[in-house]
Amino acid sequence: MALDAKVADVLNTQINKELYSAYLYLTFADYYEDRGLKGFANWYMIQVEEEVSHAKILRRYCLDNGFTPKMLQIDEPDKTFADDMAPLKAGYEHEQYVTSLIHHCFEVAQEAHDIRTMQMLDWFVKEQGEEEANADEMIKNMELFGTSPQGLYQLDREYATRVFTAPTSMPM
Ligand code: FEO
Repeated sequence: MALDAKVADVLNTQINKELYSAYLYLTFADYYEDRGLKGFANWYMIQVEEEVSHAKILRRYCLDNGFTPKMLQIDEPDKTFADDMAPLKAGYEHEQYVTSLIHHCFEVAQEAHDIRTMQMLDWFVKEQGEEEANADEMIKNMELFGTSPQGLYQLDREYATRVFTAPTSMPM
């Protein structure tokens, strides 16, 4: 059964928002790269891969359900940051925004009685919980440890170890 037009539309928009998220986190990685904080840059480059995987999951779901998504224009992110904390706070705010978008997708699917899409979005609802928790933890870590050069160095080393693990439960 083909997707309801309103459901297809919000999923199409969500693909664009996930790709924008990847774009946004690229600017974070660039900022930290410039600052010489390669661990933070690595953390956000892994986040870029995560966001692209989110877009790919949604694309695959659309294709498998009779809808070919349209690749929309991606907005240009603001690249200016006041200090090392600013991207972390912008990231947390952004993830809260993405959560609201996912919830909106879910509501549109619910209104269309589209159980299959609701089930697919369930994964994203849980994922957003983790995304927000990760972003919040980075702010707390920075507040606790990032105020001294030694603490910042240790944090940077820790973030350098992050690796990308593709979501195994969702086809891309
Ligand atoms: Fe695709 Fe960071 O949520």
